[in-house]
Amino acid sequence: MIFRDDLLQDKVILVTGGGTGLGRQMAETFGRLGAKLALVGRRADVLEQARVQMQAQNLTVWVHPLDIRMPDAVDQVMDEIFMHYGKLDVLVNNAAGNFISPTERLSPRAVDAVINIVLHGTMYCTLAAGKRWIARGEPGTVLNITTTYAWTGSGYVVPSAVAKAGVLAMTRSLATEWAPHHIRQVAIAPGPFPTQGAWSRLMPTEELANAAQNRVPLKRVGRPEELTTLAAYLVSDAAAYINGEVVTIDGGEWLYGAGMFNGLDRLTQDDWDRMRELMPKKSSPKMGE
Ligand code: HXC
Repeated sequence: MIFRDDLLQDKVILVTGGGTGLGRQMAETFGRLGAKLALVGRRADVLEQARVQMQAQNLTVWVHPLDIRMPDAVDQVMDEIFMHYGKLDVLVNNAAGNFISPTERLSPRAVDAVINIVLHGTMYCTLAAGKRWIARGEPGTVLNITTTYAWTGSGYVVPSAVAKAGVLAMTRSLATEWAPHHIRQVAIAPGPFPTQGAWSRLMPTEELANAAQNRVPLKRVGRPEELTTLAAYLVSDAAAYINGEVVTIDGGEWLYGAGMFNGLDRLTQDDWDRMRELMPKKSSPKMGE
C-alpha cells in the first residue's frame, strides 16, 4: 500500500455491488485505510460472507441487501446507513450488469435488465445520497465506475454502452451543479480487470479472454490493486480538487483500438524491410521539371 494507513480514517463509504469482485476489493482497500464500510448488493448470503470475512480482518463493515433498481428500497437503505453511521462521506457506484450479445437478439427485458441497473440504479443511489448531503449541508464524493466505451460506444454490449455513457454524462453534469454543495464527482474507466462476475458474461471462452488481453498495448490485464489504489486516491481528501474527471486505467487499450495504424505492431522486421522496398525512394519530380 503506497498510502498512509489513515488516508480514509473514519470516512463512511458505501459501495454498491460491494459483496463481490472489484466492489469488494475496493471496499477492502478503503477499510484497510481506515474507512467504515457500508456494502450493498442483491444477494444477502454473499454480503453476509463478505461481512464475516472482512470483520475477521478487523474492518468496520455494515451490509444490507439491496437491488438498486428499486428507488424506494435505495432510499430506505440510505436512511439506514445515515442512522447506523451518522453520516455518509463517499458513494461508490460500482454495481453493474452486462453481457455480450448481438443487439438484434436482445429482448426489451434484456435491455432493461442492464440499463435499469447501470443507469437508473446508479442515478437512484446518487440522488438518494445527494439529497441527504444537500439537506444536511454536508460534503460528499461520488465515484462512478464507468468504462472506456462510454465515449467510443461498442457493439455487442450496447445497453451497457448506452447506460455507461449516461453515467459519464451524469458525472460531468453533477460535477458543476453540485460543486457549490461541496459534492465532488469522479469516475474511473477500467479496461480489462478479470473478475468472475464480469468475465463469465463478457469473456466466456479462453479465446475471447486472450484476444482481449492481446488488444492491450501493455499485453496484460489489470491487477486489482492497481484499480483499488486509484479508487482510494480519488475518494480521499488528497483528490479534493479533482471534480468531474474520468481516469482511464486500461493499459492503453482504448487508444490501441482508436489509432489507425496501431495494428501494424503485427509486422516483423522483415515485413518492414519489404514495405520500405515498396515505397518511393525519393519524392517524384514536380510538374514541369
Ligand atoms: C441475451 C440475455 C442474456 C444473454 C440475460 N438475458 N442474459 N439475453 N444474452 N447473455 C435476458 C434474459 O433472457 C431476460 O430477457 C432479461 O435479459 C433479463 O434476464 P434476467 O436473468 O432475468 O435478469 P436479472 O436477473 O435482472 O440479471 C441481470 C443481468 C445479469 C444483467 C442480465 O447478467 C446480472 O445479474 N449481472 C450482474 C453482474 C454483471 O453483469 N457483472 C458484469 C458487469 S461488467 P427475457 O426477455 O428472456 O425475459 C461491466 C464492465 C464493463 O459492466 C466494462 C468491461 C471492460
